[in-house]
Formats: sequence, structure tokens, C-alpha cells
Amino acid sequence: ETTLRAAAANAGLFFGVAASPGRLSSIVNQEFNQLTPENDMKPSTIATSTGALQNTGNADTLVNYAQSNNMVVRGHTMVWHSQAGSLQGASQATLNTFIGNALTRWGNRIAYWDVVNEALADNNTGARRTQWPHTLNRDANGDGDFFDATDTDVIRDSFIRAKQVVQQNSLSTKLCINDYDIEGLTVQGGTANRKANAMYDIVRTYRQYIDCVGFQAHFNDNPNSIITNDLQANIQRFADLGVEVHITELDIDDDLSNNDIGQGQADNYRKVVRACLNVARCTGITVWGISDSESWRSSERGLLFSGGNGSYQRKAAYTAVLDEL
Ligand code: XIL
Repeated sequence: ETTLRAAAANAGLFFGVAASPGRLSSIVNQEFNQLTPENDMKPSTIATSTGALQNTGNADTLVNYAQSNNMVVRGHTMVWHSQAGSLQGASQATLNTFIGNALTRWGNRIAYWDVVNEALADNNTGARRTQWPHTLNRDANGDGDFFDATDTDVIRDSFIRAKQVVQQNSLSTKLCINDYDIEGLTVQGGTANRKANAMYDIVRTYRQYIDCVGFQAHFNDNPNSIITNDLQANIQRFADLGVEVHITELDIDDDLSNNDIGQGQADNYRKVVRACLNVARCTGITVWGISDSESWRSSERGLLFSGGNGSYQRKAAYTAVLDEL
């Protein structure tokens, strides 16, 4: 095959990209068959303080583009502590209103939605973040349960609401939870990845409401964010719960390849693609931008193209991915 999208389709995967309307040049529909709005569906853009929708123009542009180019859309994202805009600190009732509005606004034109993003804390603790004040899960009655039945839990309650909306509207949209530093079974040095284990517990506990898990895969030099050899095994254990797994925001710091003009980076891309291909329920990979120069981590040179719009250059990493697919 000569494009990523054709190769991925042959392999039974989607291969996607995060973008904004300003990036929708022909490379997007030639190379990718899935689109994630990089910023335009975040609450900071589209949510009012009551959970109503506003400013959906860019999101509509992206959804329409995807539809006319036979690309799958991953909606991103509803419940997130960052770029929360007017929903920062919102009640569960308000979050639920927003969840309903966002799901029904685009319906089946969005195949997958990140309902909850980055709910787990940093530094491999396995704990929840504290930004949503109504996020309990602290085993208040001390019985050692994952959560107490009387707790409110923003993860559980957001997914219950989302699943209810999907069912009431007979949608086929799949509901995902997304996070970073959950990619490996272990982190660098062989320590257990407690954050991944916490995510595993969440998905196992709530799997009647959760359809898919996103591994962001912003790989860098951080010991928690390195590519470990057990990536595939970790994908597999989530898949074994019956959920789809996606690599949702892939970029790979070129420093991981010791600056050897991108060959080490290409090998790392190969590893990630291979790990996903080897697990049937790993159904798609999304890179977080087209070109290094346009990346949110531009100095890491982590993407598949260099150069700017109109003069994109395929990197060794691009060739490796195409070849591996
Ligand atoms: C990033 C975007 O790429 C930037 O343009 C924006 O300024 C900040 O957010 N995890 C996520 C994404 O889930 O939404 C983030 O996207 C990158 C980290």
C-alpha cells in the first residue's frame, strides 16, 4: 500500500490524526482514515457553565470533513480537569447535561467519544486526580473496596450517564476512557505501572458502561512514559476485558532514539504499531498531529512528517509505520 490509511484499512485498523480546521490539507484525507479534533470539542471551546453547547463551528467543520472523506471521528473530550472552561468544578448534574448534549449533537457521526480524560494522578501513584471535588473513591468505610456504593464517582457517574444517553437514542457511539502513562505493564526499571493498574481496575469495575480505553502514548524520557517491552501485554489484558484499545495521541520523542537521525524513533514507532496489530481488539492508532513543526511538543520532533503545510516531508518514522502496517 502507498498510504497509511490504505495500509491500516487492510490490516483492519483505523490510522488517524488530531487536527484543527486550519490543518485540513489534502495530506489528511490521503493518509488518515480517522480524525480527532485536537482542541475544538473540549469543554473550554464548546461548553457553557450550564452544560449547554456553544461555538460548535470548528467541531462541525471537522466532523463534516471526516464524513465526506470516509473518516471515523473520535470525539475528544467531555470530562477533563484541563481545558475544562466553564465546566471547571461543575457538579455531576451539569456534567451530565453536557454529556447528553455533546453525544446527541453529533450522534453516530462520532464513532468514539473520550467521555473521561486523564482522571488519574501523575507519578505512578495509581491515585485519582483531585480536581473534581466530587471525585470520591477513597474507601471511606475502610472495607477495602475499590469504591463505596454511596460514593459519587465522576468516572462511574459520567459513564453511566453517557451509556444511558447512547441507549435512549439508539446510538452506536462507543464510550472511551483515555489517559497517559498507562501504556506499559511496567515503567522503566521494571516497577509495576500502578497508574495502568488503576486504569485496569476502573475498566474492569465499570466495563458495562465503558467500551474502549485510550492509551495516549506521548512517549518521552520520563521513566513512566518510556516504551516498555510489555506494551503489547498491557494492551492484551485490557482487550481481554472485552473493550477496544486505541493508541490515541501517539508521538514519540526523538531523544528516545539518541538523535540517530530518526532511525531509533522509527524503530519505536514500529514497536507501537506491532503491539497494536498483534492484539485483535486494538482497533486504531492516532498520531497527535501531522508534522513536528505543528506539534504541541514541537521540540521533541515526535511525529511522522517534518516541514510545514504545503511542504510536508515524510520521515523515517513514516516509512516504518507504513511498512509495519
Ligand atoms: C493538547 C493540544 O495538542 C494543544 O494544542 C493544547 O494547547 C493543549 O492540549 N492530552 C490530551 C490532549 O488529552 O487533549 C492534549 O492536547 C495533549 C495531552
